[in-house]
Amino acid sequence: MPDNTSTATLSLGGKSYELPVHSPSVGPDVIDIRKLYAEADVFTFDPGFTSTAACRSTITYIDGDVGELLHRGYPIDQLAEKSHFLEVCYLLLYGDLPSAAQLEDFETRVTRHTMLHEQMQYFFRGFRRDAHPMAIMVGVVGAMSAFYHDSTDISDPWQREVAAIRMIAKMPTIAAWAYKYSIGQPFVYPNNRLDYAANFLHMCFAVPAEDYVVDPILAKAMDRIMMLHADHEQNASTSTVRLASSSGANPFASIAAGIACLWGPAHGGANQACLEMLREIGTVDRIPEYIARAKDKSDPFKLMGFGHRVYKNFDPRAKVMKSSADEVLALLGIEDNETLKVATELERIALEDEYFVEKKLYPNVDFYSGIILNAMGFPTSMFTPIFALSRTVGWISQWKEMITDPEQRIGRPRQLYTGAARRDYVEVEHR
Ligand code: SDX
Repeated sequence: MPDNTSTATLSLGGKSYELPVHSPSVGPDVIDIRKLYAEADVFTFDPGFTSTAACRSTITYIDGDVGELLHRGYPIDQLAEKSHFLEVCYLLLYGDLPSAAQLEDFETRVTRHTMLHEQMQYFFRGFRRDAHPMAIMVGVVGAMSAFYHDSTDISDPWQREVAAIRMIAKMPTIAAWAYKYSIGQPFVYPNNRLDYAANFLHMCFAVPAEDYVVDPILAKAMDRIMMLHADHEQNASTSTVRLASSSGANPFASIAAGIACLWGPAHGGANQACLEMLREIGTVDRIPEYIARAKDKSDPFKLMGFGHRVYKNFDPRAKVMKSSADEVLALLGIEDNETLKVATELERIALEDEYFVEKKLYPNVDFYSGIILNAMGFPTSMFTPIFALSRTVGWISQWKEMITDPEQRIGRPRQLYTGAARRDYVEVEHR
């Protein structure tokens, strides 16, 4: 735990208040304001938490100025090149890269939890066929609380471990079954002979009527996409999971809350919105029209897949995703992909435009991911579910960290109240 290396002095109302300052292992110092209200009778004000650290964490570090993303200290571009998703899951969950024996044991444990309780399939059938897969995931994951009672006691380390493995193992099955249900095809059960990403593709694209062999190139690309989405510090959906869990809510309910938050187009829903935007632009010659709209304050349109609260430089995940998009499309023989042309030209034009330069808006993780997923055969409605199944390990790792953090209490922000002062009730005849 970092020591207090100094103090900050706040002068307010003729008084001075000494506030502890904690220094991290890397990144900005933090001013500890936990006693501020008790001592100075004031709140701080930070809508959107732009300057607020909500917790201590050792899991992921982002340097937005240089475009760096570290998982337990390891750079994402090295992990994307040299590791694979389940190894990154182990790293995020347990703090370091596993030995060969540890990795084998972890992969075996995950593989043996990929099936859902058979009764759960009837839960899917309650949805309309045209339900968005994210709506199904929110509902089914929340319902896991009703099926896996033996891993809901968050005070029991063993139950926390079982819940973590179950979530990571079962999320691809839930996402794949949400997809199958939406296209009217039968559910395909997990196949434990396949690795994690290949198993997901098999459950999505196999049909009982014929054999389906997963293309190893697509499985590798899918595994890389999962790695790139695994965790990202205290983003909105992770903060949602932490806040929901801070009340003692069980892990399945808390992860369901995270899925709901991720769905928004400003967050994980941006990958779907981005591909839909690229398709709406359609051709390179229409890009200036949309750039102008993005800059027009009277127009709510934003370039989806662009901008980030933390990154004020390239999102390192976008760089890896871009090279993966080029690779997958070439391998699939999809040469003149108009959508990729529009995306590449849109990025080039935007990065030369003073509006985007001044506001430090760069492509984020969602800008190219949809192009790869679309090339793989996924509908846009499956883009955010794939983000959710990939981010589950991040949510769970942060959840585990929070549960065992002695400083954590129920999250309960205050407010800057600007409503009516006390006033007495007025009977309707006197209004
Ligand atoms: C993810 O937090 C995470 O780590 C998230 C994530 C993760 O892995 O968990 O990285 C995943 O959610 C990536 C972001 C996906 N969302 C989008 O691509 C949607 C489009 N982007 C924007 O909505 C926006 O950039 C956000 C939501 C991503 C960030 O919003 P902020 O930090 O609140 O920034 P802002 O909206 O205040 O923008 C600052 C300025 C504004 O202009 P001014 O009011 O200062 O004049 O930049 C402008 C914005 O209007 N701006 C954009 C823009 N993004 C910001 N203008 C045009 N197009 C955009 N995309």
